[in-house]
Amino acid sequence: MSGHLLTLGQLGTEGIAEMLSLTDRFVEVGQRPIPRVPALRGRTVATLFFEESTRTRLAFETAAKRLSADVMTFSASSSSLSKGESLRDTVETIEAMGVDAMVVRHRSSGVPAQVARWVGDGVSVLNGGDGWHAHPTQGLQDAYTLWRHFCPMPDEPPGTALPDEPTLSGLRIGIVGDIVHSRVARSDIEAYTALGASVVLVAPPTLLPAQPRDWIDEWLAPEAARRVEITHGLDDVLGGLDVVGLLRCQRERMADGLIGSVPEYVARYGLTSERAWNLGPDAVVTHPGPINRGIEITGDAAEDLAADGRLLVTRQVTHGVAVRMAVLFRLIGSGTALGADDDD
Ligand code: CP
Repeated sequence: MSGHLLTLGQLGTEGIAEMLSLTDRFVEVGQRPIPRVPALRGRTVATLFFEESTRTRLAFETAAKRLSADVMTFSASSSSLSKGESLRDTVETIEAMGVDAMVVRHRSSGVPAQVARWVGDGVSVLNGGDGWHAHPTQGLQDAYTLWRHFCPMPDEPPGTALPDEPTLSGLRIGIVGDIVHSRVARSDIEAYTALGASVVLVAPPTLLPAQPRDWIDEWLAPEAARRVEITHGLDDVLGGLDVVGLLRCQRERMADGLIGSVPEYVARYGLTSERAWNLGPDAVVTHPGPINRGIEITGDAAEDLAADGRLLVTRQVTHGVAVRMAVLFRLIGSGTALGADDDD
């Protein structure tokens, strides 16, 4: 991995697999009575979120603390940005305080890459989600969650037999909903295809990029692009999916007329109880959160799937901490062996 994590494309299959394998070690740390190791003692991680977040910010901050790093939290709404300070001056101010990593979220695509160009060699920039572009740690946590669902670690109940190395080969994964605006969709597509899954993009034409086939073929390597299909009909593919990856629909975009109405969207793309019945018996459902209950998935369907252990949302969140521990350890760790904290 280079000094920054901006997209999953930069990691490639080998790098993604390495991060998932490393995540196993931090899942184990998270299960200890005191889930803390000294690996990043003396390091400082700053979270710079210029757009709202619950999961990503808290997961990064929890991950950094569990690695014994110091955490610096920047809040855009209470910062000197409101006095007219520029983004670059803000970044340079935080860098001058002495940080090893900056986690950057911004509503504009490309801001983390720009921050990476501004900071010195000693600072790693991690993309916490930029515009429609990329959300690499979400892609890693979703891929990890699916890998470890279908190929559990040895002390978990057995699942579908996949080799115990990071792979999603043999799985058919649907990504459903607002694909055009979704950084999660882009990073999930990169992660899933790199690990050998077949991916079916399911959305109305208005929620897909224009010329979606060309978009896929120009963006992904040929081998990955061949694994991606595109359809407008959820019911045409639902029964053959191993995974239904729901995406958040933004109500404000619905007001823009990208879909006819919420009931129309639910009728064609919502995961209703009826559709949940039509899932394969071992199929699972993911969602990056936050969920709009009653739109992407109805309350009844969510409750039934959760009761069956087939709604993986909370597991995605739990794994999000371990994945971010792995990424921080890999980027700014000094090679210190993992182990119990001295305070244990
Ligand atoms: N999935 C995700 O990025 O959630 P947050 O916006 O809460 O970080």
